[in-house]
Amino acid sequence: MTSRIIPVDLFDLVVFGATGDLAQRKLLPALFHRDMQGQVPPGARIIGCSRRALSREAFVDFALKAIEDHVAASDRPADSLTRFLERLDYVTADAAQDAGWAELGQRLAAGADRVRVFYLAVGPDLFGPICDRLAACQLVTPRTRVVIEKPLGKSGKSARALNESIGRVFAEPQIYRIDHYLGKETVQNLMALRFANALFEPVWNSGHIDHVQITVAETLGVESRAGYYDTAGALRDMVQNHILQLLCLVAMEPPVSTDADSLRDEKLKVLKSLRPVAGDQAAHVTVRGQYRAGATGGGAVKGYLEELGSTASRTETFVALKAEIANWRWSGVPFYLRTGKRLAGRVSEIVVTFKPIPHSVFDASAGPIAPNRLVIRLQPDEGVKLWLMIKDPGPGGMRLSHVPLDMSFADAFNVRNPDAYERLIMDVVRGNQALFMRRDEVEAAWAWIDPILDSWGTSAELPKPYTAGTWGPSAAVALIERDGRTWYEDQDL
Ligand code: BG6
Repeated sequence: MTSRIIPVDLFDLVVFGATGDLAQRKLLPALFHRDMQGQVPPGARIIGCSRRALSREAFVDFALKAIEDHVAASDRPADSLTRFLERLDYVTADAAQDAGWAELGQRLAAGADRVRVFYLAVGPDLFGPICDRLAACQLVTPRTRVVIEKPLGKSGKSARALNESIGRVFAEPQIYRIDHYLGKETVQNLMALRFANALFEPVWNSGHIDHVQITVAETLGVESRAGYYDTAGALRDMVQNHILQLLCLVAMEPPVSTDADSLRDEKLKVLKSLRPVAGDQAAHVTVRGQYRAGATGGGAVKGYLEELGSTASRTETFVALKAEIANWRWSGVPFYLRTGKRLAGRVSEIVVTFKPIPHSVFDASAGPIAPNRLVIRLQPDEGVKLWLMIKDPGPGGMRLSHVPLDMSFADAFNVRNPDAYERLIMDVVRGNQALFMRRDEVEAAWAWIDPILDSWGTSAELPKPYTAGTWGPSAAVALIERDGRTWYEDQDL
């Protein structure tokens, strides 16, 4: 197994919100890894920027701690660490104040021809003001790119407003909207599985597939993010972006190529084909839940309301829903989606269940014949399982068993699995937008989500309580069982 380092052009990366959680947990460790792997060219600079008045030395200390906390000791040799820290610089600047911007301009002036990346690791209310400042200070060169993260709006309307405020300064090819799920290794593998194998594509349709499940389950609660989370909820936080993106990759037509717009055009068609869930429909095809106190592997945990420090909130920490894609390929194939906090296990997986065989040639004594299933596990233990029927080995007549053809990537390839941010940040520098959401995709996803939110908003029903450490409210089980199907349960979990 070999890995390949694709060289990138010389760049300056400015991280707004450089002392925040994202920079600390993801961006600095990811940049360090790419540097250590030799992908960051000599002379490339990483400039932290935030309101906090810090010296360069204090920011270097902050970055060092971030790397020590998030990169295994064996993965951070002293010489790589020194080289990385030397790249760092820091400027204090506030989107609401004039101070600091001229200084940022001076630092950047030394690299006017370089690729310039502004990573806005800040709340969305600052996207517009920061972009305006960048324009006013003439910091946007032809080779400049801007990176933003969700929440990209709370609704279609606010997403459009955000897109407009950024679009006043940056053209669409300069805007990189991160959905970190698209940077995950196994998500990439989904493309390889579908389009680099002849086996699946002929049966990848309603003629052969019974239904698809997408589960993104977390054992964590809302942790320190209760303030944000309570304004979002699971539908906005996970379904509008990550889960719909996964659905698109499963359901899209083969793109002409892997170039950014070919891919995004196909994903957009899927989003536009989602059958709207409006009015009463939401009560039948969606289930909202909210966790109560319970226990997870780590012991007793508080309920959502206690974590929030409130006695009332209608915010869902769990959602299950049945989506349908109204097009030729998928008509009649339900996509069951579910995600939640404080569930019984941490797992993200896509399960494609094929239709039963049309006729069994075996005696009843052979046992039941289960349908084939393709399970694409994103995390943990990335891998693919194809469930097949085989004959039980040995004498005793024909007895059939359902067994997985199991490919765990950790076993198959002995390489470190890079964090999604490593790939995504380098793609920004390379100018490859394939793994980033285009404006129309984000807005089309909201167009499907908005009516569900509206319908929940007008309903008197509250999210159904579920005990932390379970698989969510029983109504989520009923949602799929009403259709004669069950949620896939891996024995390993
Ligand atoms: C984020 C959500 O986008 O994804 C979080 O805001 C969630 O609530 C996280 O915990 C899950 O990401 P991952 O990569 O840990 O599955």
